[in-house]
Amino acid sequence: MTTSIPNASTVDAAAVDAAITSRMSTRAFTQAPVSRETITDILQVASRAASGTNTQPWRAYVLLGASRDTLVAKVCAVHDAIRANPTLAADYREEYAYYPEKWVSPYIDRRRENGWGLYGLLDIGKADKDKMHAQHQRNYRFFDAPVGLMFTIDRVLNSGSMVDYGMFLQSIMVAARGRGLHTCPQAAWNGFSKIILPHIGAGPGEMLVCGMALGFADERALVNTFHTPRVPVADFTHWLD
Ligand SMILES: Cc1cc2nc3c(=O)[nH]c(=O)nc-3n(C[C@H](O)[C@H](O)[C@H](O)COP(=O)(O)O)c2cc1C
Repeated sequence: MTTSIPNASTVDAAAVDAAITSRMSTRAFTQAPVSRETITDILQVASRAASGTNTQPWRAYVLLGASRDTLVAKVCAVHDAIRANPTLAADYREEYAYYPEKWVSPYIDRRRENGWGLYGLLDIGKADKDKMHAQHQRNYRFFDAPVGLMFTIDRVLNSGSMVDYGMFLQSIMVAARGRGLHTCPQAAWNGFSKIILPHIGAGPGEMLVCGMALGFADERALVNTFHTPRVPVADFTHWLD
């Protein structure tokens, strides 16, 4: 399938920048529905993402209505069961290591700042195990978003395809912004792939990459006032003249 490529002169830098910079991980959504047409448009636009030799390694599953709600119920039940009996966690492992085994600075510092910032805003202290569990479980409710997305990749592919995948995911999130929608990419689902893959009908050759919540942001929710900082360009860029 081919898609017409807009002339570069028609691309508005301010609009592109606004779509990118207004993206934020949104953790509270309204119940306002998102049409299938809009979701299809977003996926179509995102499929223009670059990928090595145009391999297009992505496969998306859109969960709406009962299929969304049933998955939420299944995973929340297991999440609660693990809390009651932590030994069960051994049965739910992510299939690829998203994070390093050993955390080092500066990544651990940024990770901590992020966690403390979010939980601090919500007034959840380290000792508030119930509140922490409930907040973590908001992931498994897609933060109430009406659209749940799951992404898989063919197991035969290699790490380079995960680079491509990131571009696809970012493109979805940016295309969503262009339509007034917000998203939250979610690796939190990854440990539950043995529930999710059969639920979405993925074949044995597919691995779960992550989930994503999609919908309209609840503008009144405190959690959505959480804005993350970034390292200045000068700190991560080396100019070589
Ligand atoms: C692949 C991926 C997975 C993520 N998984 C989760 C998740 O499971 N739950 C969550 O609340 N945020 C998740 N995040 C959001 C990050 O915490 C967030 O992107 C980061 O703190 C920067 O904030 P921003 O997205 O608001 O700019 C994930 C982000 C990425 C890129």
